[in-house]
Amino acid sequence: MRNVLVIYYSQSGQLESIARNIAKPLLKTDDINVVFYEIQLEEPFPFPWNNEAFFGAFPESFLQIPTALKPVSEEIMKTKFDLILLHYQVWYLTPSIPINSFLKSADAKILLDNIPVVTINGSRNMWIMAQEKVKVLIKQNNALLKGNIALVDRVGNLISVVTIVEWMFSGVKKKYLGIFPLPGVSDKDIKESSKFGEVILSSLLENDFENLQRRLLEIDAVRVSSYLVTVDKTANKIFAKWSNFIVNKGDSRKFWLKVFKVYLLIAIWLISPIVYILHLFIYPLKRQKIKNEMEYYKGIN
Ligand SMILES: Cc1cc2nc3c(=O)[nH]c(=O)nc-3n(C[C@H](O)[C@H](O)[C@H](O)COP(=O)(O)O)c2cc1C
Repeated sequence: MRNVLVIYYSQSGQLESIARNIAKPLLKTDDINVVFYEIQLEEPFPFPWNNEAFFGAFPESFLQIPTALKPVSEEIMKTKFDLILLHYQVWYLTPSIPINSFLKSADAKILLDNIPVVTINGSRNMWIMAQEKVKVLIKQNNALLKGNIALVDRVGNLISVVTIVEWMFSGVKKKYLGIFPLPGVSDKDIKESSKFGEVILSSLLENDFENLQRRLLEIDAVRVSSYLVTVDKTANKIFAKWSNFIVNKGDSRKFWLKVFKVYLLIAIWLISPIVYILHLFIYPLKRQKIKNEMEYYKGIN
């Protein structure tokens, strides 16, 4: 019997549904025991979000400050797992507070120690630098990263900003104003994600995780946009300044979060299109360097 632990946290149910679809082929296999673990916070974040909570989550998300979690069940803690499927979403270019808190917990140190891990990301589209942060946390837990899958909203960057924000603030997955596309990872991509489970299952049965990422890439597990990488990297530098500035602001924190909100709107609607145009000019000059970078971000090293 092989034990597989499926870890997730999800507010809307999107990441949970990805986790359940990927696990389907494993659940159908007799000698594989799949255990689901939903990360639960002592003080949950609201869903749908309101303005104050949404922007208020920024400094602690970005600075990766953990919050208190409900303990993992004894049943899970005493099981020795052969594989962990670690699902996470991105908050402010960083693994979300729940997943970050779990990865920094004493329970994670025990559960992940020397265990192969596949990371599965369900976010808007800006996950590259968050994955770099997850890689560090995985190493700190002495786990072995063997695969990565990224499921994103495939519509244009600015359209997905509108639709995801509307979804996060209404809690309803609908076509905003009747004209925008549905927010989030498409139902088709979610449904088809069980194909990744098939590949993970065969690696598990063959005891060969070394070829897993290559095989996942063959079925389109990760797409990397060099433009989004540029935005992600630039925004990380700016977010570092803002979060360090706001985190210790005490009484004026609320005021500065409002200023940050205005800054963010300007950055998204004004600065990111400028970065896009600059990127178009820079791309031909740095073609090889960008190509090498894209290969790196598709991988797990
Ligand atoms: C506070 C907050 C910040 C977010 N920041 C990002 C981000 O930086 N990059 C990104 O691709 N998605 C971002 N998202 C979208 C989430 O990654 C995710 O797709 C969405 O919250 C749905 O996940 P769920 O399964 O928890 O409902 C953010 C969502 C929230 C609530």
